[in-house]
Amino acid sequence: MALIVLAADKGAPGVTTAATALGAVWPRPVLLAECDPSGGDLAYRLPGADGGMLNPGRGLLSLGAVARRGLRPEQIHEHSQKLVGGLDVLLGLVNGEQAAGLTWLWGPLGRTLAALPEADVLADCGRLGQHPQINDLLAEADQVVLFTRPSLDHVAHLRERLSLLNRRVGVVVIADPRSYRSSLDEVRRIVAGWDVAFVGGLAHDPKGAELLRGQWGGRLDRSLLIRTARELAGRLAAQVTGTAAGDAAGHTAGHTAGDAAGDRTGPVRRPQEPSSGVRP
Ligand SMILES: Nc1ncnc2c1ncn2[C@@H]1O[C@H](COP(=O)(O)OP(=O)(O)OP(=O)(O)O)[C@@H](O)[C@H]1O
Ligand SMILES: [Mg+2]
Repeated sequence: MALIVLAADKGAPGVTTAATALGAVWPRPVLLAECDPSGGDLAYRLPGADGGMLNPGRGLLSLGAVARRGLRPEQIHEHSQKLVGGLDVLLGLVNGEQAAGLTWLWGPLGRTLAALPEADVLADCGRLGQHPQINDLLAEADQVVLFTRPSLDHVAHLRERLSLLNRRVGVVVIADPRSYRSSLDEVRRIVAGWDVAFVGGLAHDPKGAELLRGQWGGRLDRSLLIRTARELAGRLAAQVTGTAAGDAAGHTAGHTAGDAAGDRTGPVRRPQEPSSGVRP
């Protein structure tokens, strides 16, 4: 199905948090792939489906050890695990040094992820620029989405990145709900003239972000982060599938976080696994 790359320039705006939130509410079957060459975080943030810790040794590193002669879609599943809530995840490298021996992996990995027959893939590629080989994976993506905070330094780096990336991207601003619309408008103005498909938003919501770091127990499904993620997920999924939902998503593009807060949303859980939802 589709490969959607999620990334940033610098400054840790919240790509991994956004990837987790989007994975939790993605409207189609989905795999969350930690493709950040600097190393993954999820094994240390969230428990597995059985409540225990995920195995940090099973993921990209173990996949890289067996895939030198060619990568098959079923190998992706063999090296994936299930997060609490039922979300499938391919864990990332344990540290950035491991990427040095895996520079060959990103191109074949991108091709295989883009061709997975039964799931979309959200690939968290972390901060671009530090490991140029990750561009081999970006080249295979149906959609590249860059995350930014609305502050001047973040947006300046975003613009630099846009000038270096030779392709069309979407931009998502992680913005304070109180100034959501104006933050998005400001970023829209700053990136005008670049090849940007859309400027969307995700709520800056520290409580919601904490809930996605293993502090299960709050009302995750009601958090602004999850509500805005649901809207963004619908929009991204519709864009890569080109369905009629794309029109609907387009019409909601101007919604504010406040609008999203008024939405009536269901519990946060993987739609294909209704019995094992991410339940607060
Ligand atoms: N939407 C959000 N609202 C509030 N806080 C957030 C949000 N997203 C992320 N954060 C916080 O920002 C910090 C960085 O988040 P995260 O690890 O997701 O960023 P990242 O861009 O993946 O960083 P890195 O490049 O280091 O991997 C964390 O403390 C997280 O809780
Ligand atoms: Mg990250």
